[in-house]
Amino acid sequence: MAHSLLFVCLGNICRSPMAEGAMREASGRRGMNIRIDSAGMGSWHVGNPPDARAQATALENGVDISGQRARQIAAPDFDRFAHIVAMDRSVLADIDAIRPQNAPARLSLFLDHVAGREGQDVADPYYGDEDGFAAAWADVTAGAEALLEMLRRG
Ligand code: 4NP
Repeated sequence: MAHSLLFVCLGNICRSPMAEGAMREASGRRGMNIRIDSAGMGSWHVGNPPDARAQATALENGVDISGQRARQIAAPDFDRFAHIVAMDRSVLADIDAIRPQNAPARLSLFLDHVAGREGQDVADPYYGDEDGFAAAWADVTAGAEALLEMLRRG
């Protein structure tokens, strides 16, 4: 299977769209061909673009995520993606609970890929202020670099 990654958060309008954007940017810069997508556990925001604050934060950092649309994780994702990466521990547990038996996808926690951040959550910025989005962006860019290293090493 070619490299493929699915990022999953709760609503698919803040953290996982930012992770998708950061990963597209970082992999494109290196000329790496990776299938990248994001999804949410919940259906509240299906069809919506990312939160305006997430879009603004990404754009300030040179990444346009305005074209993304939220969707909910579904059973075929466990076959379509080699890696499913949860943005926090609660989402990781929820994905594990709906994972089909014998699904090939490898589940992991996003910040487990970043040295020194193992076991930590990308904090949900939805109910907070702009600072939370800046912090989430810093987390997703660090994670994108670490994930690319992981894929490069095979
Ligand atoms: P996300 O943030 O999981 O990073 O997309 C959230 C967005 C929406 C909600 C919760 C978290 N919500 O409850 O609607």
